[in-house]
Amino acid sequence: MDVAKVFENNKQWIKEKLTNNPNYFNELGIGQNPELLFIGCSDSRVTAEELMGLGPGEVFVHRNIANMVISIDLNVMSVVNYAVDHLKVNHVVVCGHYECGGVKAAMQSADLGILNPWLRNIRDVYRIHKNELNAISDENKKYNRLVELNVQEQCVNLIKTATVQKASRDRGLIVHGWVFDVNTGKLVDLKIDFDNILKNIMEIYHLD
Ligand code: CO
Repeated sequence: MDVAKVFENNKQWIKEKLTNNPNYFNELGIGQNPELLFIGCSDSRVTAEELMGLGPGEVFVHRNIANMVISIDLNVMSVVNYAVDHLKVNHVVVCGHYECGGVKAAMQSADLGILNPWLRNIRDVYRIHKNELNAISDENKKYNRLVELNVQEQCVNLIKTATVQKASRDRGLIVHGWVFDVNTGKLVDLKIDFDNILKNIMEIYHLD
């Protein structure tokens, strides 16, 4: 890859933006007011804004391996706190994707060093949903289902936080679980039952 090409592309991009709106960057410089926090996988095939048809300023983004929301990860927790409490987003999305290398790696019998504790959280998702997953004989279908269940469990992890509980109660914030199908480009809404999960979670994880 010729890195110089990136800077050429950037010049071209600026030109296109200014052709459509001469004030584009002046407006961008004023500040951001995103309505959506997107937590996705770092996979290079999964773009955040592009696949949703959104542009700069419209979505606050956090990405890590396998779109995980781990309660002791200062990085993701800071992003959630800042986006919800300060930027006041009302939609938080966990977006997984089929063919996720992180999810596949998590189920292999291999010592992956520093990745072990990170991916262990996906094995925990498998353990919780073992009966459903073990009933699927097709390996690919099983991985796809694990991708979906992982998204669902990361949504549950979000709902366990005081930040989300408070914003949900005070102004109706909603958590969404989506999956990006890299084979078709389609964004799939898993339609997780936010209200029901919230209700069940509150019995044990009520913080605010
Ligand atoms: Co991935």
